[in-house]
Amino acid sequence: MGASPSLRFLLLWIAIAAAADELYCDSWRLSVETNNAGSWRTVPPPCRGFVEEYMSGERYASDSNVVALESLAFAKSVQITDDGKDAWIFDVDETLLSNIPYYASTGYGSKLFNVTSFNEWVNLASAPALPASLRLYEDLLILGFQMILLTGRTESQRKITEDNLLLTGYGYWKRLILREALDLGKPAVKFKSERRAELEGEGLRIHGNSGDQWSDLLGSTMARRSFKLPNPMYYIG
Ligand SMILES: *[C@@H]1O[C@H](CO)[C@@H](O)[C@H](O)[C@H]1NC(C)=O
Repeated sequence: MGASPSLRFLLLWIAIAAAADELYCDSWRLSVETNNAGSWRTVPPPCRGFVEEYMSGERYASDSNVVALESLAFAKSVQITDDGKDAWIFDVDETLLSNIPYYASTGYGSKLFNVTSFNEWVNLASAPALPASLRLYEDLLILGFQMILLTGRTESQRKITEDNLLLTGYGYWKRLILREALDLGKPAVKFKSERRAELEGEGLRIHGNSGDQWSDLLGSTMARRSFKLPNPMYYIG
């Protein structure tokens, strides 16, 4: 039994609307990744399903793999000296660790960020590793890079963050830098630029920097190469 003409029209209309959303949301995602969007607070309502599918399907994993491969290709071109000063910086959230389980339970960025519930999740120390980043991390260690972890998490979260990193396979780092009391009100881009300047002041050569936010990468004392991991769920300035 065929659908009635009005039902067929409705289904066609839904299909066209879904295709238009998909097209729009992919363009929105590009604008976010390129930082054309600038500051934004929540995933646009028509894109909630798109972001969920992106994050939980193969595309996020594939995009992350390609970033890791490009990072490794550059890393292999770096002349590592034996003075222990060749550094690579990694952000933590959505870079080394994935908070997808938390964001899956809160609408994949479609709701306003809730720092209370996010910190409850962080305190569980059960964020999985981002697989592509873990492989890159291991390769960079073998190449001889000094691993510097630079995160907007706070000193009060040091122990839980170390536990989570160790549990997921990040076995060694030279330094884990978190926000201290004086850093609490600072924009991420300022906090991270200041810390990079201190690292360079200590003679470290910052070859690469991996992060899911432009505020991990931009500012002053930038790395020679910056590698932007995908994140269409939230923006940090
Ligand atoms: C934020 O999370 C906390 C802890 O889960 C919850 O009690 C609170 O209602 C949430 N706030 C909003 C605005 O959803």
